[in-house]
Amino acid sequence: MTQDAIPALPDYNDSALDQAFAALAKQATDEAAAIGSPDDLEAFRLRWVGRKQGRLNDVSARWLKAAPSEAKKSVGERFKSLKELIEGLLDKAAGTGPSHAALAAEAIDITLPGTRHLTGAEHPITRTLNEIVSVFAALGYSVGIGPEVETDFYNFESMNFPPGHPARDTQDTLVIASQERRPLRDRLLLRTHTSPVQMRTMEQQPPPIRIVIPGKVHRNDAMDATHSPIFHQVEGLCVDTNITFSDLKGTLDHAMKALFGSSVKTRFFPSFFPFTEPSADVQISCIFCGGKGCRKCKHSGWIELLGCGMVDPAVFAFAQEKQPAYDPKKISGFAFGMGVERIAMMKYGISEIGQLYAGDMRFLNQFA
Ligand code: DAH
Repeated sequence: MTQDAIPALPDYNDSALDQAFAALAKQATDEAAAIGSPDDLEAFRLRWVGRKQGRLNDVSARWLKAAPSEAKKSVGERFKSLKELIEGLLDKAAGTGPSHAALAAEAIDITLPGTRHLTGAEHPITRTLNEIVSVFAALGYSVGIGPEVETDFYNFESMNFPPGHPARDTQDTLVIASQERRPLRDRLLLRTHTSPVQMRTMEQQPPPIRIVIPGKVHRNDAMDATHSPIFHQVEGLCVDTNITFSDLKGTLDHAMKALFGSSVKTRFFPSFFPFTEPSADVQISCIFCGGKGCRKCKHSGWIELLGCGMVDPAVFAFAQEKQPAYDPKKISGFAFGMGVERIAMMKYGISEIGQLYAGDMRFLNQFA
């Protein structure tokens, strides 16, 4: 800026003044033409009309104020025109905004594809679990959850598995260590099924109840193609006056048709669970061969899918300790429990349960 400072005028005659002012006018015009951004514009403004170091100030001080009195008028006129010129240049540059070149530099090509954000997708277990829950939600069931670390009381005793009962051996249990000094019923374990939430729900509210309980369960089972030590279940419980086995059959028949298609048939086989009496295993007609018999259904035409039964009066007796309204002489109910992985594997034709937990994107992408 210093070598660019306004020099003292050599002479005050008209031609010297014309020459000096014309040089400045050309300089300002050239610089204004090169303005390409808001920053350039501000720099131009400061350089020419800035209050402290603006060139017009210098011109005023060095040329106008220093002029001999007889030259004041001619310098003043030229100074005024230069000032007007520069103000005009400023207005023009501000009004037209950034130059075409600056705009072009910042432009985006809207024909290019945008930044792609990968959207997540529900895991097939979550999807199946939600689907099961919504089939029952449509029937008026609400949804409940319970703890995964459970007491022996809720997981077993209140579900009518007394201490030492052989039925406990059907669910090889992972227990929390170092609790030998606690009474058995208070000892903690990883719940082996979602059934304990039946009792937790009944303790919290009197009948009627219609609830489904999705959740994770744990068993000390070795992993193979169809078993995993951690898996998911959806439990169901319906308690009211005059609930019968027909209600159970109708409800589960509807649910299986909703999940697997309306041509699916169900049949109920006698079974045993400590917390239901009578108990049944529900089989559906094979969705792979339509019931004709194939490798998947071991040529029987039927596939076993879930357990169910009428709530055992002994279970109601435990509920009555907190909610007297669960009087087995006045109310009745049914319960059911199904494995989510098993249903997901059937619906999506998955032959290895481990695929559901491996996190392999080539597998998971098929569900996106
Ligand atoms: N809790 C059982 C299991 O994990 C499944 C089950 C069977 C649940 C019958 C029920 C039922 O509610 O009524 O093997």
